[in-house]
Amino acid sequence: MVSPIEGFSKLTKEEKIDWISENYTQDKDASKVLLKRYWNDDGDLQKLHDEFIENTISNYYLPFGIAPNFLINDKLYAIPMAIEESSVVAAASKAAKFWLERGGFKTVVLGTEKIGQVHFMYSGDVEKLESFFREVKPKLIEAATSITKNMEKRGGGITDIVLKNKSSKLDNYFQLHCTFETRDAMGANFINSCLEQFATTLKEEARLHTDFSKEEKDIEIVMSILSNYVPNCLVRAEVSCSVEDLQIAGSTSSQEFAEKMVQAVAIAKVEPHRAVTHNKGIMNGIDAVILATGNDFRAVEAGIHAYAAREGSYTSLTDARIENGNFKFWMEIPLALGTVGGLTSLHPLVKLALEILQEPSAEELMQIVAVAGLAQNFAALRSLVTTGIQEGHMKMHLLNILNQLGANEAEKKTLVEHFKKNAATHSAVVEAFENLRN
Ligand code: MEV
Repeated sequence: MVSPIEGFSKLTKEEKIDWISENYTQDKDASKVLLKRYWNDDGDLQKLHDEFIENTISNYYLPFGIAPNFLINDKLYAIPMAIEESSVVAAASKAAKFWLERGGFKTVVLGTEKIGQVHFMYSGDVEKLESFFREVKPKLIEAATSITKNMEKRGGGITDIVLKNKSSKLDNYFQLHCTFETRDAMGANFINSCLEQFATTLKEEARLHTDFSKEEKDIEIVMSILSNYVPNCLVRAEVSCSVEDLQIAGSTSSQEFAEKMVQAVAIAKVEPHRAVTHNKGIMNGIDAVILATGNDFRAVEAGIHAYAAREGSYTSLTDARIENGNFKFWMEIPLALGTVGGLTSLHPLVKLALEILQEPSAEELMQIVAVAGLAQNFAALRSLVTTGIQEGHMKMHLLNILNQLGANEAEKKTLVEHFKKNAATHSAVVEAFENLRN
């Protein structure tokens, strides 16, 4: 049994590696070697990564790939993606190429409003609180000027503060529901700093408010935090073409293909089990770009899934329709992203990813990310309603299986050729590999 450790964070990186390897791994020496093998030879670069988080002992690599040929509002992009799943970049590239020949993707930002809340408890007269709030609102904004002045220079700032009575849901629960414009920053630190200042001012002003009774003066601040649910920070991405132009291998006719695509979306609209997987495929594209551009994929995931459930039942994020001989496929999603601040100017590959994307504003990045999600869903549904997902997926996964089996380069080449003409299931790959070796 391992005993708890005091002061782990104070150990040097080597000492941390020794401790973890000696206490928690089977082959201590191999673990130590492995963890150090992933260190970067460039000491400064390694130190930069070490300092992103606490208790860093090594680096964890993900492939950084490119999906080229994305035509978005008539501008051509090559989209960087960081992801481990073998078929994602291939699927994105295929969808990009398909829509490149059909006018590309059209996108529009529908809103950029960010949200934060001060949650507090108040057990007095509600009308008195409302009148206090009307009086104190300008003071709340005023008290935050040292935090907001730079953001205001960039065209952002606090857009509103609303008092919300939530006491029908939870006794004595009220909130300041605050909205912000944060321009090219994701804005989490800015918003949280403003909220903490609002909370301090609210409490102080309540204490001085002469209309309040002794109990009413004692507003209890519970917490101040941004919300990752941003339904008014919304982007729309769309593709469309005439049904005739939807010629797809593996489908008898373009009309049949278009109808099946619409049915596939309709199923995901009404069936949560399917909707979750359908949306997971969308997130394959979204998360990969979010990661490559140094944004917070947990925030984006949480916000998008909440949006998918906004009507009370979890549903598809995408929509599809056939109208007057035209096939239309689109999606609206909330995305709070930044192209300044955070890791964007620190992580060298994030900087490069943003350069590859031609230094987008946060609004442009919202559009690129939404397109990556829509493309991914198109590619997944296209396979699902025609050949099935495994054909393409296993082709991409083939090298992983061959690597697991220990195939050498010549064997890999032969077997990749073989599986261009044969169905690649896991057992078929193992069998073909064994036959080749024998
Ligand atoms: C796999 O990562 C994603 C899919 O399951 C998405 C879908 O089913 O739509 C292929």
